[in-house]
Amino acid sequence: RINDLIDAVQYDKGLINRSIFVDRDVYELELERLFANTWLFLGHVSQVAEPGDFITTYMGEDSVIVSRGHDGRVRALLNSCRHRGMRVCRSDEGNTSFFKCPYHAWTYSSAGELEGVPKFRLGYAGVLDKKEWGLREVTRVEEYRGFLFGNWAPEGPSLDEWLGELKTYFDLLFARDPAGVEVVPGAHRWTVDTNWKIAAENFAADMYHVEHSHARPAELGLMQAVPDQGYQISAGMGFIGHAFTRPVSEDVGGEEPLHSYWTLPNIQTEFLAEQRKRIAEEKGAELARLIPLGHGALFPTFAWLDLEQFRLMRVHHPQGPDRTLIHQWCVLDKSLPEDVKDAVRKQYELTFGPAGLLEQDDGENWRECQNGMRGFIGRQLDSNMMLGLGSDRTAAEVVGDDDVPGIAGGIWSEINQRRFYELWKTYMQAASPESISKIPPTRI
Ligand code: FES
Ligand code: FE
Repeated sequence: RINDLIDAVQYDKGLINRSIFVDRDVYELELERLFANTWLFLGHVSQVAEPGDFITTYMGEDSVIVSRGHDGRVRALLNSCRHRGMRVCRSDEGNTSFFKCPYHAWTYSSAGELEGVPKFRLGYAGVLDKKEWGLREVTRVEEYRGFLFGNWAPEGPSLDEWLGELKTYFDLLFARDPAGVEVVPGAHRWTVDTNWKIAAENFAADMYHVEHSHARPAELGLMQAVPDQGYQISAGMGFIGHAFTRPVSEDVGGEEPLHSYWTLPNIQTEFLAEQRKRIAEEKGAELARLIPLGHGALFPTFAWLDLEQFRLMRVHHPQGPDRTLIHQWCVLDKSLPEDVKDAVRKQYELTFGPAGLLEQDDGENWRECQNGMRGFIGRQLDSNMMLGLGSDRTAAEVVGDDDVPGIAGGIWSEINQRRFYELWKTYMQAASPESISKIPPTRI
């Protein structure tokens, strides 16, 4: 039955079987095939800069500690005591030399080794080998540009292969400042009663909702109409959605942004223009003027929003078929002056913080999608992702092709959503992660 539900996803026709958003068995299979087999965002190295620094997060529904051990190495450890399973760490972040389980006080080092067991000599001598009872370590932890990702599968694509052509865009997004990025301390964390895929695909692609769902911020003068010019790109396992206002044929020398439909003060303008100029010289004007990159996502759960006014990154953690836990951070370029950093933080809060004007519009939509699909009849229909199948524009038509890696469609297209569900279906049907070394990009 589950196989039939998954098989009914016809991404190439833009028909997505709604059961995959509400069915408990499909969800359980996602935990196994997606969340235990794909690269999941853990955090940024600056959040665990010193030995003993740690943050807690999730991989699927598994609680995970990301910890820099006293040997200087970053590990991801399953946050589950080997004695009875209690979470040994209940803080969001901190610095510690050990993790002591609150229940019976088994104590683990910052590298996850079991070091202390109460009544060891009285009750466990000769039976319990402490070396075998350390915290379970995530099989692979890899880093790109300071962004840490974990994967439980011992085999399958490396993080580098997973990112693929997306690396070009990832660099524009998070490595455009030669000094690097800093993550504003403290994650925003909140839940939305919706399936994780509804939120994830919105970040991967959905320009279509902006004028309608966010009409109120537009009335308040925060944004203008989204321009018809623009495109969406699938590259590697990632997605970028980009809109711009001027025809590409107009030569702007890579110094001016094409992406500006927001009317909040462009406080980063000067800094971004400098970066665009430098990157235009190094990598070409077509790429340089993609900065800021707009909205995007890395399959399955990492996402970002990069605008003239601020930049955020977030993760959509699954918590059951109808609940999503969002972790979100404001990300700053290190070289920005302090007063600009402060202003960027405030604009982030105003728009996409948990109480932000736009975030609330989106959360309401996603919850009501779930409510509209959960009934016995509602779940039997298909969701429609046909936008662009009729008259999509290619990358070459929109932007000129070669300098912009990946597969592109016009901004009024659901090409990225279709690709998202192609990846989803491929992983859900794969016998093992090793059987998918690379999913060739296709234009659908
Ligand atoms: Fe952790 Fe018993 S559950 S020490
Ligand atoms: Fe939105």
